[in-house]
Amino acid sequence: MTQQRHILLLGGTAEARELLETLINVTEHDITYSLAGVLGSKAEEVLRSRMGIDSAHFQFRMGGFGGPEGLKKYMLDHGIDLLIDATHPYATSISRNAIEASREASIPLARFVRHEWTETTDDSWTVVDTLSDAAAALPSDVTVFLSVGRQSIAPFASRKDCKFVIRSIAEAEEHMFHSATFIQGMPGRSMEEEMALFEQYGVDLLVTKNSGSGKASHKIMAARELHIPVIMVKRPEMPDGPEFCEIAPILDWIEAAPAAS
Ligand SMILES: NC(=O)c1ccc[n+]([C@@H]2O[C@H](COP(=O)([O-])OP(=O)(O)OC[C@H]3O[C@@H](n4cnc5c(N)ncnc54)[C@H](OP(=O)(O)O)[C@@H]3O)[C@@H](O)[C@H]2O)c1
Repeated sequence: MTQQRHILLLGGTAEARELLETLINVTEHDITYSLAGVLGSKAEEVLRSRMGIDSAHFQFRMGGFGGPEGLKKYMLDHGIDLLIDATHPYATSISRNAIEASREASIPLARFVRHEWTETTDDSWTVVDTLSDAAAALPSDVTVFLSVGRQSIAPFASRKDCKFVIRSIAEAEEHMFHSATFIQGMPGRSMEEEMALFEQYGVDLLVTKNSGSGKASHKIMAARELHIPVIMVKRPEMPDGPEFCEIAPILDWIEAAPAAS
């Protein structure tokens, strides 16, 4: 019988939900699942009904902690034993806060991130460090499919010589672009759906973050199939620490991790 732990799981991704479901179904640990609150007050209801969660071991919380100090205080006040950061690979503030708070509170931390996409011989990628570098790398007079998240589109607005097709899950600010079509919606459910979209808008080039795996991969496959070049914004560098892309090894880490001191 392994020791029962109270795990704080920082979520907001499909991988976090997958890990949450596994932790609830196959362990006896208490889980607090935390969201930033971007999706609004219905998030808990949606999560519970989608997963059919009625476990007494599950709690939900929403909203920022108030920086690393706030996160540390939350963990100490709520008897958290382990911290798992399963936020998006580009959500750097919360991930850096998690590193600092776990160190300050002596609570073990692991990151759970999706696999990165890697370039194949059939792809044509230009890999850049930042969104500004991606904007600067665009040739003139092209139609660009911009799929970087609504909070990351601003650096592209200065490229008045390009046309943009901008897809985001939440509504983006439309006014700052000279020539742009905004599509509010989820990533396409298949490569064919993404190919049809690219063809409909005459897309010459795709700009994306390296979010990796999951549904968002269909756009990468569509670009490959249509020989559309990709400008890929690298993942931000994070300090070394336990990091997992698969469920089984992180379950092992949880069982082996020392209790908070
Ligand atoms: N960036 C993306 O492309 C992307 C894509 C899909 C989903 N998401 C998800 O959306 C959320 C916000 O993304 P972001 O890029 O704005 O993150 P961020 O810049 O790293 O975080 C901004 C602030 O939001 C709060 N926060 C973020 N995630 C939280 C969580 N799981 N629980 C409680 N508070 C959280 C923290 O506030 P305090 O400092 O006050 O604690 C953090 O400092 C993340 O949870 C992420 O997983 C992001």
